[in-house]
Amino acid sequence: MFEGLNLSDEEFQLYQKLIYDSVGINFTDNKKQLLVSRLRKRLEMTGLSSYAAYRRYVTDPNNAEEFVQMINAISTNKTDFFREPQHFDFLKHYVYPDLSKKKQVRIWSAASSSGEELYTLGITVMENFPNLVNQDIKILGTDISTKVLGEAEQGVYSEESVGPIPGLMLRKYFLKGQGRWEGHYLVKDELKKLIHFRRLNLMQPFPLSAAFDFIFCRNVMIYFDKPTREDLVARLAAQLLPGGYLFIGNAESLSGLKTTLKYVQPAIYRKVY
Ligand SMILES: C[S@@+](CC[C@H](N)C(=O)[O-])C[C@H]1O[C@@H](n2cnc3c(N)ncnc32)[C@H](O)[C@@H]1O
Repeated sequence: MFEGLNLSDEEFQLYQKLIYDSVGINFTDNKKQLLVSRLRKRLEMTGLSSYAAYRRYVTDPNNAEEFVQMINAISTNKTDFFREPQHFDFLKHYVYPDLSKKKQVRIWSAASSSGEELYTLGITVMENFPNLVNQDIKILGTDISTKVLGEAEQGVYSEESVGPIPGLMLRKYFLKGQGRWEGHYLVKDELKKLIHFRRLNLMQPFPLSAAFDFIFCRNVMIYFDKPTREDLVARLAAQLLPGGYLFIGNAESLSGLKTTLKYVQPAIYRKVY
């Protein structure tokens, strides 16, 4: 057993600040137990015997890799294929008809987690762009967590997780696993090649030259406080092409934030200039 496995309120505050300053996630006081349970695994892995010792360890620049592991451990990665399906309906009816005529299309999923959102976007693009082969289309998937990015890049999903994908599309875009992959589905190359993966921290200036036709930044702002959201939305807006859209999660809203983006419908905003 480890000694000192209690996280004191004082130590918790130091973790709150460390996490907030580095990745923007706001571990409010009521989330102390959640943080304790997520950090415990890292204490066990590193063999460190107290939260204070672990914090000193991860903040040592020589242990940058453990800092990445800590972020992997504390982030919430819940996602699904075709999550919040009204966004994909909106794309199909109001966005894709124009984009399918453009030479170049750039799409960004800014907190893409384990890839379900990215591959859903890819499937809907392939289904709605009849001239795809003559277009230059890229979908960028970014996340802070190297763990989920690795899973996204691998593109292997359980039978349960592919449940929301309509049967016809599942057969068209996935290979059914056999042998040791029984019960799993692998994303086919033709879908995968639309997608690019990159680690990116939304709290830092975006190292991106592209301007995007639309950005998905869904179900991540709920972990950020208001000033962080306001700054992030301004930088996302700057990364959109004129007429481009920002999609956020259904549980999120930009109301009360200063932004140049115009409300279109719940969780959908547009850069109109
Ligand atoms: C709940 S998931 C949402 C996934 C997907 N967008 C969806 O709506 O289904 C939130 C994701 O945000 C990522 N995240 C949290 N803080 C981040 C940051 N500062 N920069 C980039 N990604 C971050 C987490 O690693 C996690 O994968």
